[in-house]
Amino acid sequence: MKPINVGLLGIGTVGGGTWTVLTRNQQEITRRAGRPIQISVVADKNLALARNVTGGGCRLTDDAFSVVADPHVDIVVELIGGYGVAKDLVLKAIENGKHVVTANKALLAVHGNEIFAAARSKGVMVAFEAAVAGGIPIIKALREGLTANRIQWIAGIINGTTNFILSEMRDKGLSFETVLKEAQRLGYAEADPTFDVEGIDAAHKLTIMSAIAFGIPMQFDKAHIEGISRLEAEDIKYAEQLGYRIKLLGITKRKTEGIELRVHPTLIPARRLIANVEGAMNAVLVQGDAVGATLYYGKGAGAEPTASAVIADLVDVTRMATADPENRVPHLAFQPNAVADIPVLPMAEVETSYYLRLRVEDKPGVLADITRILADQQISIDAMIQREPAEGEMQTDIIMLTHLTREKRIDGAIASIEKLSVVRRKVIRLRLEELG
Ligand code: HSE
Repeated sequence: MKPINVGLLGIGTVGGGTWTVLTRNQQEITRRAGRPIQISVVADKNLALARNVTGGGCRLTDDAFSVVADPHVDIVVELIGGYGVAKDLVLKAIENGKHVVTANKALLAVHGNEIFAAARSKGVMVAFEAAVAGGIPIIKALREGLTANRIQWIAGIINGTTNFILSEMRDKGLSFETVLKEAQRLGYAEADPTFDVEGIDAAHKLTIMSAIAFGIPMQFDKAHIEGISRLEAEDIKYAEQLGYRIKLLGITKRKTEGIELRVHPTLIPARRLIANVEGAMNAVLVQGDAVGATLYYGKGAGAEPTASAVIADLVDVTRMATADPENRVPHLAFQPNAVADIPVLPMAEVETSYYLRLRVEDKPGVLADITRILADQQISIDAMIQREPAEGEMQTDIIMLTHLTREKRIDGAIASIEKLSVVRRKVIRLRLEELG
């Protein structure tokens, strides 16, 4: 049968993996897709690299715009990344009637609404399994496998770099700065690690999952984003003493008043499976009303794991290429005219539990003052430990866990606690999720 022709934009790590896996598993993939999937042209600025990877097995160019205009190309695979030229290329490909497969979470989280609207008006598919959690088929699961469910919440470890750093900080008792340097030396963290360590990459992926789970537009600008760069090793140790691990979680929840959309370091019970996801691995926990909790685990990055997701999309697009657009699975799981305008809640309205660490003078009445402030805000304490002060030390740390409360109540309590003269530094506040 006539092959479907793919134009590959970018043959770096993921592009190289896509070429390799598609070549290695060609027969098996053809049996599944119903016709051969053939990369007929590769565009990359580094032609020597492209030649090296493909061994001259297809046409090469350094002009990506010629690929999206090429009448022989049926599917454009965008693996360039970023919001710049990648956006122009994707929109041009759509305008020229080509289906698009992309791994670009930043592009979709920020410009997805525009891109999907353009795709709908041209009747083409935009597939993006590789944009979230690399090789884990979480988009397929949310969009199709769980389609019977009213999804209640998602909590994911969706950034491998930060999970690696947190695992090392816990294992070795080291500071964030020390582990980051080591991670950079080993190639786990980028030279500029901002997107990963400040939670931006995780927020991109969370934004996409939230849209598919709840049938809402992409709203990256409404996400609350906190990374791990200010996390102290001591808090990881205290959390452990209380039976919790700290993970950078992307959390999105459906509440009566709106949607929670937040990325931050989070205490989770050490006995949960997801708390034991270590190193650079990813995992996503989804709570649906019918199925209950389901957990998806695997590699969130890397050449062949991400290629696995890219090729799954290529197979899907190949199978559906001849179907009427209205008979295809909707891009964002819900029919476009059924996308709901549910607000994303401001952080002040988010409801969760908290971990507080207070550096205080070790003298009578201090705890009474603090618990009075919490009681005034109707915050209930769940657990508490106090560090044994060293010989002659006049200060100590009090660590408290609260029951569920609203963020605005904790903000109010922290502001009052920090005004007490016996409180000697800013209160450390982390959020806690039972994920039960
Ligand atoms: N930089 C990401 C991570 C992988 O550390 O998980 C690509 O999304």
